[in-house]
Amino acid sequence: MTTSNMPAHVGIIMDGNGRWAQHRNMARTQGHIEGLKAAKRIVKAAADMGISYLTLYTFSTENWKRTQEEVGFIMGLVKKYLMAEFDFYNENKIRIRFSGNLEGLPQDIAQEVVQVCEKTAHFTGLSVILALNYGGRDEIVRAVRKITEKHIPISEITEATIHDHLDNPDVPDPDLIIRTAGEQRSSNFLLWESAYSEFYFSDKLWPDWDAADLELAIKSFQKRKRRFGGITT
Ligand code: IPE
Ligand code: IPE
Ligand code: MG
Repeated sequence: MTTSNMPAHVGIIMDGNGRWAQHRNMARTQGHIEGLKAAKRIVKAAADMGISYLTLYTFSTENWKRTQEEVGFIMGLVKKYLMAEFDFYNENKIRIRFSGNLEGLPQDIAQEVVQVCEKTAHFTGLSVILALNYGGRDEIVRAVRKITEKHIPISEITEATIHDHLDNPDVPDPDLIIRTAGEQRSSNFLLWESAYSEFYFSDKLWPDWDAADLELAIKSFQKRKRRFGGITT
């Protein structure tokens, strides 16, 4: 793979955990365990490829609609493994960041998230942005609320104002957004930031993903012509 024209920021809608388990007559929760293993593989691969930012869509603002058992299980995985993987972050200089509605998370999970972000803040390798209790619409609503609280005059509000009040304004917009498991929709992922992202859809279920799949997605990205509304010569 050529290392020129690498995406700086890749976002992944990690979908298909439930189907992976159902195909094997296992409980959906088993799919989430395998999905977590895939996430670790892909984080390592992204770090090795020199990607700067990787946003992982882990739990959406709509995923609370699932059974209490499944929601509790996913939150339990976050609690059990997020900080426990510190040695892995340290070895690979991975910084963990957060995007989403922190106040809507159970308090122990929110504390865990804040702590892991603080403890890895000085790592200068790949930044992994955990999109947890994340919704693109919710992120925009929270941005508008922050703007209103500051009493910024209406005449001064521009696209930059909205941008500056999103969860991580210093993170560049995603160049490439990947969705696994055959679905071709955004499901409320990075709505504002994805205005000019390239999309890559894969039929493979998320627990089956490995470094070679990420490489295929990046190769596809490298062939695209991005025009941003302009004209290429
Ligand atoms: C993605 O896998 C993980 C989360 C949304 C938390 P799913 O659980 O949505 O898997 P499918 O789509 O039901 O197969
Ligand atoms: C999107 O997947 C959310 C995450 C991957 C965390 P969903 O499985 O929730 O999306 P829909 O319901 O198929 O649109
Ligand atoms: Mg799904």
